[in-house]
Amino acid sequence: MKLYILNGPNLNFLGIREPDHYGRTTYADLCKMIEEHCSARDVECVCLQSNHEGALVDFIQDAYYQRADGIVINPGAYTHTSIALLDAVKSVSIPTVEVHISKVEEREDFRQISYIRAACEKTITGHGTAGYLEAVDFLIDFLKNK
Ligand code: DQA
Repeated sequence: MKLYILNGPNLNFLGIREPDHYGRTTYADLCKMIEEHCSARDVECVCLQSNHEGALVDFIQDAYYQRADGIVINPGAYTHTSIALLDAVKSVSIPTVEVHISKVEEREDFRQISYIRAACEKTITGHGTAGYLEAVDFLIDFLKNK
């Protein structure tokens, strides 16, 4: 089983940016944590981050070309603006989980829209970086029962 773990804009600044919302775990620590979790569960994972919308579309298409079984994505602020990311996830038909570190539903009005959600099997919000591991576990179960 192969999973793509995608992170959008400013998530490379985890540990630096707004720790009250996003905690103190760095992006490097997050990737290490996900890689260790996946390897313990015998799953291959590819962790990628970009600050650019088109590059994230390219990563989603790359997941298709590389025959990934599932995608975990935190699109950052593109969650609330990007129809291109919604279309990309719909295009590849790969089971996808949307993750947000913060509890977006308790934040500003402009964070209440998620375009990508319509194409996702599940959304996890407000569980900090542990949300990514929950998303991995969900996908493993989901794919096994497919
Ligand atoms: C975020 C929430 C978004 O609203 C924000 O723009 C981010 C991070 C989260 O992980 O909580 O960049 O996706």
